[in-house]
Amino acid sequence: MKKVIVRRHHPNHPWIFSNEIIKAEDPSPGEVVRVEEGKKVVGSGFYNPHSLICVRLFADKEEDFSKNLVFERIKQAYNKRKDLGESFRLVYSESDGLPGLIIDKYNDYLVIEVNCLGMDKRKELVVQALIELFNPAGIYEKSDENLRKLEGLEIVNKKVYGEIPELIEIEQDGIRFLVDIINGQKTGFFFDQRENRRKITEIARGEILDCFCYTGGFSLYTASKGNVLGIDSSESALELAKRNAALNNLKIDFELMDVFKALRKFYNEDRRFDTIILDPPSFTKSKKKKADALRGYKEINLMAMKLLNKDGVLFTSSCSYHISDEEFLFTLRDSAKDAKADFIIIHKGTQAKDHPVLLNFPESNYLKAYFLQKV
Ligand SMILES: C[S@@+](CC[C@H](N)C(=O)[O-])C[C@H]1O[C@@H](n2cnc3c(N)ncnc32)[C@H](O)[C@@H]1O
Repeated sequence: MKKVIVRRHHPNHPWIFSNEIIKAEDPSPGEVVRVEEGKKVVGSGFYNPHSLICVRLFADKEEDFSKNLVFERIKQAYNKRKDLGESFRLVYSESDGLPGLIIDKYNDYLVIEVNCLGMDKRKELVVQALIELFNPAGIYEKSDENLRKLEGLEIVNKKVYGEIPELIEIEQDGIRFLVDIINGQKTGFFFDQRENRRKITEIARGEILDCFCYTGGFSLYTASKGNVLGIDSSESALELAKRNAALNNLKIDFELMDVFKALRKFYNEDRRFDTIILDPPSFTKSKKKKADALRGYKEINLMAMKLLNKDGVLFTSSCSYHISDEEFLFTLRDSAKDAKADFIIIHKGTQAKDHPVLLNFPESNYLKAYFLQKV
């Protein structure tokens, strides 16, 4: 195995950046390398000299990326999640010892998303392990993240095994959802908000506004607690949201609206709400665009805070991993100041358990969520 020597490595962090490397024995892109710091072996990982993240470690000793390793890691990941039902994030990359690999399970169907070159070269091993372990009805690859460009990879959106129906029905906490893995966003459904959906359902009441509702995740959960209006700018997502509501015999209004414009419109119309949910997309995929993203968060939070009735509850989240918890909190405080309102933090949420956060890998902790009550 070729050697890569590093200056200093943060213990247990799975990434080696290009500026941390002193010398490499000329491995080819995607090759598995042994990383050493002084005389000590740090571990083994995928090498990509064209990426800022030059090595992605998957083991803390010299070890090949074998079929057995893939099989065991996926099995362990499954065992940690099997009490979540039939549909969940099965593998969450580095947090499950499989760098650059995401696998979502939708009943008998699996969707894989590959975000680094080393894993891309070995996805056949992953598919084989999945077939042996789960005997799935179908496996689909949805590798369409911009992150792939940074690794020199093309976008992939295709069936890799078995059959994939147009829509797959899944169940979350007794609620039925149709998922479109082929044309939907990301792999089709946002499992990461599962626990936050449960929590807001306990608190929601009255007039409920679900902003960025996609296929109705939060709307369907909270529908038993009040009158829900879900808004989103994607026509196809809203079509599915309507079908999802009908599937569960729920009466929910969905409207095609840009959230930024809608919040202003409601304000001008004197329309007010008792519960507002803000689950926007990641406003930035890069550090450079952080200021724009913070402005976006400020605007929607400020408007939502103004639109809330007294004692009303705001659920607000950020899935941009370049925005820290402190920066998000600062934005919320700033928004409250401009809205001339005060709030109590009644709960702090994060990503669901099937997206585990590694203590020494802060990058795995991306979802920040606050449940605020207007006082
Ligand atoms: C993270 S997803 C929301 C997931 C959803 N809350 C759920 O529980 O499944 C973000 C959504 O924001 C929508 N979106 C993005 N920009 C928007 C905008 N300016 N106005 C309205 N919706 C927008 C996207 O179409 C997408 O459905």
